[in-house]
Amino acid sequence: GAPVTADISALTEGQRLVMEWRGQPIWIVKRSKAILDILPTLDGRLRDPKSENVDQQPAYVREKSPELRSLKPEISVLVGLCTHLGCSPEMKAEIRPEAFDPEWKGGYFCPCHKSRFDMAGRVFEGVPAPTNLLVPPHYYENDNTIVIG
Ligand code: FES
Repeated sequence: GAPVTADISALTEGQRLVMEWRGQPIWIVKRSKAILDILPTLDGRLRDPKSENVDQQPAYVREKSPELRSLKPEISVLVGLCTHLGCSPEMKAEIRPEAFDPEWKGGYFCPCHKSRFDMAGRVFEGVPAPTNLLVPPHYYENDNTIVIG
């Protein structure tokens, strides 16, 4: 499929832009400072905190930041499909879903079989999803323009 272009100039903190690329939902999320501060505290609870599974993101994204999984710290670009059986996870950036996990700091929650991911798309231990959410190939054409594909 052809690359798609996203204009992120109007994206505000905590907001998610949903695009489509190759029939898949692509999420572009602007993470707050509070969220970026939480991410490094989660490592011990994640299955692959340093994104060592090379199939789940482009090498240039991992080289930039294996923890944040993004080219710019605040902007996260993910394929919005659960890596278990492909349901669409819900974004719960600011809530504390204590019924599932008292220490979960929010992120993405898959309603199908309760997989949880953080706001970098990193999968938690003890859930069915085998890998982190996928990061699609992408680059910045300029500060406010991302090309997916
Ligand atoms: Fe997401 Fe099963 S499809 S947990």
